[in-house]
This record gives sequence, C-alpha cells and structure tokens, in this order.
Amino acid sequence: SIDKKVSDLISRMTLEEKVGQMTQLTIEPFLKMANGTQPIYPHQIDEEKLSVAIKKYKIGSILNVGGNAQTKENWRNRIATIQRHALQERLKIPIIYGVDAIRGNNYTTDAVLFPHQIAQAASFNPSLAKKGAEITAYETRASFLPWNFSPVLDLGRQPMWPRIYETYGEDPYLVAEMGKAVVAGYQGNGAITDKYHVAACLKHFMGYSMPLSGHDRTPSWIPEREMREYFLPQFATAVKSGAKSVMVNSGEINGVPVHANKHILTDILKGELQFKGFVVSDWQDIEYLYQRHKVAKDNKEAVMMGVNAGIDMSMVPMDFTFCEALVELVKEGKVPMSRVNDAVSRILKVKYELGLFENPTGNTEDYPLFNSAEHNKANYDIAAECITLLKNNNAVLPLSVGKKILVTGPSANSMRALNGGWSRNWQGTNSDTSEITKNTILEGIRSVFGVDNVDYTEGVNFENAINVNEAVSKAANADVIVLCIGENSYTETPGNINDLNISSQQIELAKALAAKGKPIVLVLTEGRPRIISQIEPVASAVLHTYLLGNEGGNVVADAIAGKINPSGKLPYTYPRASNSLINYYHKFTETLEGQDPAGYNPQWEFGYGLSYTTFKYSNLKLSSNALNASGSITASVDVTNSGKIAGKESVLLFVSDLVASITPEAKRLRGFEKIFLAPGETRTVHFKITPDKLSFININLKRVTEPGEFKVQIGDQTGTFQYR
Ligand code: IFM
Repeated sequence: SIDKKVSDLISRMTLEEKVGQMTQLTIEPFLKMANGTQPIYPHQIDEEKLSVAIKKYKIGSILNVGGNAQTKENWRNRIATIQRHALQERLKIPIIYGVDAIRGNNYTTDAVLFPHQIAQAASFNPSLAKKGAEITAYETRASFLPWNFSPVLDLGRQPMWPRIYETYGEDPYLVAEMGKAVVAGYQGNGAITDKYHVAACLKHFMGYSMPLSGHDRTPSWIPEREMREYFLPQFATAVKSGAKSVMVNSGEINGVPVHANKHILTDILKGELQFKGFVVSDWQDIEYLYQRHKVAKDNKEAVMMGVNAGIDMSMVPMDFTFCEALVELVKEGKVPMSRVNDAVSRILKVKYELGLFENPTGNTEDYPLFNSAEHNKANYDIAAECITLLKNNNAVLPLSVGKKILVTGPSANSMRALNGGWSRNWQGTNSDTSEITKNTILEGIRSVFGVDNVDYTEGVNFENAINVNEAVSKAANADVIVLCIGENSYTETPGNINDLNISSQQIELAKALAAKGKPIVLVLTEGRPRIISQIEPVASAVLHTYLLGNEGGNVVADAIAGKINPSGKLPYTYPRASNSLINYYHKFTETLEGQDPAGYNPQWEFGYGLSYTTFKYSNLKLSSNALNASGSITASVDVTNSGKIAGKESVLLFVSDLVASITPEAKRLRGFEKIFLAPGETRTVHFKITPDKLSFININLKRVTEPGEFKVQIGDQTGTFQYR
C-alpha cells in the first residue's frame, strides 16, 4: 500500500533529506540569465544551479508564478530536466511542481483560459465548474504539471479586497458547492494517479478574505464563532471530498498570524476536519513571521513556530536558511522528529498518489485535446452561463443586427481587462500582447454586427481621459452606445485600492455620452463590484461580465445580440455606496424599516440577475409544517417560463430563522438548482430541508438547530414551518 511505501521510505531518509522534502523553491533562481538580471526567453533551466539545490539541500518541490508564459513543450522539458536531477539522488524521490492554474492552465501558452471563479459562481452551476476543472487538470497535466494551487475557498465578502475575483463570492454554501465540484474535477473522484488529473490545493486556510482595511494581507478580526459559521464550512466540505493539499492564509487574525496558529492549522484542520493531505505555507510566509508580523525574533524562531503550528512545506524561503534552521531545531529538540516525519509522510503520500514515482513526467502523446475546439467550446458554454444582466429597461437588449453601434470605454478592446490577473503572467499584464489571439468585446461585437455597423473609440482609459469629445461626437451617429468600463488587471497586493468607486474618468465619459440621449448599454468588466451609482441611472441596460476569460468577447457580443440569453446571478452584493458594504445575510438591525435612511440598500442584491425571458414562481408547498430532529421536509415550487424565449433560471432557496440565541441573519442560501425552461414550460423544483440546514454555531461554538419558526423563500414565494 502507499502508506507502507511511505513509511519504508521515511525509515531510510536522513534528517536533511526529510527537511528537503519540506522545502519548496521558486524556479527563478534556476533559470539561465541573459544579462545577469533577465531570464532568457523562452526560459531555460540552469542545470548547475539546480543540481546544487537538489544535491546539497535535497529540495522536494518547486513552484512557478511565472513572468512569462511557457509553451507546453517548454514546460515538459523543464519538468523532465528537474526530474532527471531529482532521480539521480540516492532515494530517487521526484519533485512535485506546483502552479496557480486557477481557471485554466494560465501559465501555459494557448491553454484554455476560463472565467475567473467569481464569474463561474454567478452561473450557479457546479457541474459546469467541474467540467472547467477537468479541462484545467487535463491541460495542466499535459504540461507535466501535477499540482494546482486552486480552488480559492475564501469568502468573497469584502468588496475592496483585490482577490475577491478569485473567490466564489459571499455565500458559504455556494462556495462549498462550487469548491466540491471543482475538487472532483481536478482530482477525479480521488483517483489522481491517472494522467489527466492533478492534486488540488484549498486556499487560503482560513479567514484571509476579510481584512478590515480591504487591503490584501492586512489584519482581520474574526471571532471564532464567525470563523466557524462562515469561513470554515466550505473547507470542511472540500476536505471531505479528499483534497490533497491546503495553503495557509498569509494574514493575521485577531493578532495571530495564521502561519503561526497551531489551533487553526493543527487542532482544527488536521484534528477536527481530519485533513490527511499536506499543508503548504504561502509565499515566504514563514520568514515573514519575523520580517513582517514580528512575532518571531529571527528566521530560526519563525521556522520553529511555523512547523510546530502544523505547516508541512515551506513555500519559497528565499534562501536555504529554512533547511538549515529546521535541521538545527530538530537536533536541539525544538521541533520534534515526529512533527517532521508527519509532514514528510503527508507530502510523500501525495507524490505516490499522483503516480510521480512511476512516471515523474508524463507522455507527450497522451493529450490530443489540449486547447482543442472541444475545450474552447466548453469555455464558451461556461462563460455564457456566467454573464449577468442587471438592468434592461424597455427591453433595450437584445439588439437586432443592423443597428448602428458605438463601442467605447477602456475595456472594449482589451483582453487584459477581460482576463484580469493570473493570465499568462501574475498581473495579467501581457494578456493583450502575448499569445492570446481571442476576440476582445469590440472584435466580438464587430464579428456579430458587422464592421460597418460598429464604430469605436476608446474615450478614456482606466485612469485618463483620451478622446471623450470624439466618443461624444461619434455617439451622434449611433442608435445605441455600448459603454465598456471597469478595471484593468491586477493580482493580490498590487490591486489594493482606497476607493471602491469606479474611476472618475469613466464616470465622466458615461455622463458625457448620456447627454446625447442615446440608449446606453453598460458593460461592467471588473474583478470586484466597483460602485457605479452615479452613472447607473444613465444606462438603459447593464451587463456584468466579471472577468470572463478568453471567450469573453464572443460571449458579450452574443449576449448583446440575443444568441445567449443571460442566466447569471450575482454571487455577491453589489454595493451602492462605499460606506454600506453589507452582505445579504446581514442582521435584522441593518434594516430598521422606515427609520434608518442609510440601511441595507445595495445597488443589486446577492442572487439578482435578469433574463430576456421572465420566470414566474408559484405554488410554494411545504410537505409538512413541522420538522423534527430526525426528519426532513420538502419545499417545492413551480417555476414557469412566462416569456417568449427559452432560458435558464437558477432557483434559490433561502431560509430564515426567525428567533435565535445568536441574532439571526435576514436569510441564508440553503439550496439552489439551475433549470432550463422552454417558453410556456413549467417545472416543479424540490428542495429537501433537513435540520442541519437550519443550524448555526452558538455562543459555545457548537453547531445547533434551535426549535422555533423558520421562513422559506423561493423567488417571491414564502412559507413557514416549525422545528420542534
Ligand atoms: O497560490 C499563490 C497564492 O494564492 C498567493 N501567493 C503565491 C501562491 C503561489 O503562487
């Protein structure tokens, strides 16, 4: 068995070999340099430097955040070279190479780039997300890369946070359902020894997404009760589905950096959740315990804290001081050998499960579907279910072909804006220029509506006015204006902002165009919900694209033309004002009706999204008006397509606990199902409600379901029942 192989191997390893397995270095120091500072492109491995790291420090893992995309052939050569060196060592332990293939294998040239997680959440369709993950796993493995730092299971509930687009939004149940599907897609029912799957990495455990300032990697304050109510359940679900690795939150919670938090990493993750895979730090984060967080006096103390807290692998200690410090700490008895053995056995187990010992690379001829028409079609289908229609006054959309359209705005002709960060490089800055040859929104609209019918000028870029007057004068000749605004790409800390309002230049362009009196279709391409309340009134229609990826341009064009009937729904609350960033499961005191002029009043609610058809909800029935601890009741509702065209509808079940010992939330999502309805068709949708769906974490940190009255809401239908 694998366990036996692991323990045999461990029994033959020296301390230095074990510590090497716990070390993950970035590829950069092992690249050949052109002029001393810049790596040669395409990248080539400097084998001399690599062999020092492997021979002297026995390193077990390498990662890439990539300055430049690589062809899959380059990746294959890179991995083959690395494994050749690793296998020359005494125990022939293969390296495990990790990448952030977070929505497609984004560091590999031409690999399919799917919509970012936030967009996929809007589809409310976990089976599509699973399909995307399967393709991502296939294309990642095709590049001989076996380990993916994905999915992000952080709760996207702080709209300032620059990583909200990497999340599945603000609802823990939606995050959990999407996460479960994606882990299954990456790992293939846990059978990851096959050549088409990769090990998943759940990140960032836990509570990373709620920095008080909204700035990445700044302090969060999350009481343990809230942690268990909102931040832990989605990780618990994904751990149960067999995820092989977990990455740690870089930030601090309640004054304790998570990289030094034994309670979170060992007691909760490895104890309560019974996580059997391995825990990797985030980038340099053990070192940061002393360099940034100041809870350790030096590197050695930081290593002791991190490893004793439960970290199994250190991501990018900048030099080999991690290895040296850990060896000394074990010899001094400050880190128990049992802790090191536990860490190494977890890592080796995954290497065996991935089949790296038998086949440390892969076979080049096994991946004929890489970037195939089939994979690109799946990408289009996924993006088509993400796009979200937020406004459509007087049915201005869809537009009929033949209309004269002015396309303008900074995201109209930019793959970089459509793709966002983590696209070919870390900040997504080379999306426009590199190997991506897909349609921008402008190109998509021109190909659907005809070049002669579509005029274009940029108007403003994200931060500067360019040719607003030209845009305004061109608007005079158009029947309709498609105004594409939002954000340019960013990733992590470089994406921090101090103002959630959309940039003033874009507001200026919208207002100037509005003066022409032509209908404006606002296309919002952005990684977080930038406040647009000043200009929303001038738009007749609003389409939210999030970051739709490589098929985004075609999907936006087809949605505008009505070839796609939008079916996305917001996976987060879209705020109206920067001082009211309240999510949908707020407490009742946020809405003191008639008394609080600044109460909960978002631009659009979580779960909001229109269609070109209409759906009517009727006939909500509860199978019983009482539920007990061992029972269940079924809520059913009829959904009718009451419009003239076919469409998909995500049916959302919300439940409210009307009185509880912890102030109850206005409502919580407890189920959803996406259905397709032809015009005039009715379907009955059923949801099973069990007591655990009514439960919450009480003041004693126990999950309980308290007796009392509960309200069910599906669409505009409501009903109540008692839990006894
Ligand atoms: O996986 C990422 C993480 O999300 C942020 N820091 C770097 C890691 C590796 O690239």
